[in-house]
Amino acid sequence: MCGIVGYIGKKRAMPVLLDGLKRLEYRGYDSAGVAILENTEVKAFKKVGRVENLLKAIETAGELDSMAHIGVAHTRWATHGKPSEENAHPHSDEFGKFWLVHNGIIENYEELKKELSESGVKFSSETDTEVVVQLIAKEMEAGLSFEEAFRVALKKLRGAYGIVVMSADEPEYLMAARNSSPLLIGVGDGEMIVASDASAVVGTTKKIVYLEDGELAKVSADGLKIELIAEAGKELKREAETVDMDASEIEKDGHDFFMHKEIFEIPSAVLNAGRGRFIASEGLVKFGGIEEIKSKLRDIDRIIISACGTAAYAGLLGEYFIEELAGIPVEVEIGSEFRYRSPVFTERTALIVVSQSGETADTLAAVREAKEKGILVLGIVNVVGSTIAREVDCGIYTHAGPEIGVASTKAFISQLTVLLLLAIYLGRQRNLSVNETKEILADLEKLPELLDSILHREKLAKKLAKKYKDFTSMAFLGRKYSFPVALEGALKLKEISYIHGEGYPAGEFKHGPIALLDEKFPVFFILPSDDVYEKSKSNLEEIKARQAPVIAIVTEGNKELMRMADDVLEIPKIANILSPFLSTLWTYLFAYHVADMKNLDVDKPRNLAKSVTVE
Ligand code: F6R
Repeated sequence: MCGIVGYIGKKRAMPVLLDGLKRLEYRGYDSAGVAILENTEVKAFKKVGRVENLLKAIETAGELDSMAHIGVAHTRWATHGKPSEENAHPHSDEFGKFWLVHNGIIENYEELKKELSESGVKFSSETDTEVVVQLIAKEMEAGLSFEEAFRVALKKLRGAYGIVVMSADEPEYLMAARNSSPLLIGVGDGEMIVASDASAVVGTTKKIVYLEDGELAKVSADGLKIELIAEAGKELKREAETVDMDASEIEKDGHDFFMHKEIFEIPSAVLNAGRGRFIASEGLVKFGGIEEIKSKLRDIDRIIISACGTAAYAGLLGEYFIEELAGIPVEVEIGSEFRYRSPVFTERTALIVVSQSGETADTLAAVREAKEKGILVLGIVNVVGSTIAREVDCGIYTHAGPEIGVASTKAFISQLTVLLLLAIYLGRQRNLSVNETKEILADLEKLPELLDSILHREKLAKKLAKKYKDFTSMAFLGRKYSFPVALEGALKLKEISYIHGEGYPAGEFKHGPIALLDEKFPVFFILPSDDVYEKSKSNLEEIKARQAPVIAIVTEGNKELMRMADDVLEIPKIANILSPFLSTLWTYLFAYHVADMKNLDVDKPRNLAKSVTVE
């Protein structure tokens, strides 16, 4: 996601801030900005694109050698509002007094913005972040000190944030705060660097103080005061820790590959995709992005989902979710096929496109074809401001953060989260009961924790990878919700390990492909204890009779499968409709470890690109 750097101390701030931004580039971003304070005058620079562009602009303005000793800087990965100079951080209040950088999402920014606007505050960006700095300025008007105003403003926020802010009137310190978005302070000799990530700090100091959720800090060149946001006046003592990693290890957070790191970010991908979009206890789902077409959606009687690769498999699960919960007929059409068929639309048809990058040429072609025909087009996209995000009629962002590994993982799970919530939203407009909604949402709330419990058992996947890595082919089978998981598991295995993976509906396997099976052709069978379990079990018997080795993904406590399968991976009990989130995670861990054990470049598989912009 975005990156934060703040500096105060004996050195010139500008080079330290720019160095920090460069070290954060690996996280992915689409604009960058910096603000420094020299003798009560703030100088701010923002640029869309690379940090290099920002550096050139600063050089041209003759400010690279500025004597400022305090400043804040940011690399932004757009979430609310397109990548642009207006939306880039640092953001300031109307009078240019406070300059603030923020990572995370402010869930209640719309209501806060409305209140502030009604009291006469003028906004200059589309971001959720700007409300925070405008709020601080507003609180100061009420006579509070900078520190108090910051605290009062924070108490009004709902959502996730790592924030650093400086005041033009108080150049002796920076204020920082954290809630569900990392923030740390590098403690140097007569200098402090506040950052979202240790890699921005290690060039200057290895001594780091980590802020915890719900804490704020007053940071001066030679002092640090940490308190709870909720409780003024009670200073928390925190010793600095010494980090003994180099910058490249820190970028991957200690993981060997970005793909591994991104698999471990899957629980937070679910949280981020759902953040602010549902209230389980009320059975309520809402999306800011589609509010304006709410009544049109009520009239929709057919949906086509178009996407490519992993995103298309998310779409396939979307088909199951929407048909089951909303009762609307759905068909999934691969992007590259959609355009060259003669898809039949009526004015009550909607097209949903799903894309991580928002730049996939085949998916974009589907958008353009549908718009040409005049039907409603809705996008489920990760990259804000991407071409697809801009061209659809309206959309829902998945907020998975940048995905660097070429093989998609956390983006898929975030797409599933949004599709499930959308299915519920459409269902509530139709026949889905509030009680059933509450039950599903309650399980969705538990999901991050259950995903974590699988990640804790990663070594099982590693053990199986060792056992199966030398086979040359493998089938992935599942019924109903587990069928798209089988397709996705097979795709992941083949793209990163170069082992042929064949994803198939379990019931269909006997109509041909079963001929492939023998003791050299293992089967990865996904059969949780759901409403098709008994049918899947019969298919498993057919497979065992052909001597194929079987890895089974089952629901915890399934003793009979322990006897039938050669190896078992368990998922916790959960509503059937949520089982694919959990079983997919096992397939990811398995594919990752197979590829890793074969010493392959997991993040950059041969012949593949992260974003496929050709037809
Ligand atoms: C597989 C993978 C690809 C993409 C596909 C669509 O791991 O990453 O199959 O899912 O190229 O890309 P987006 O989602 O960017 O449209």
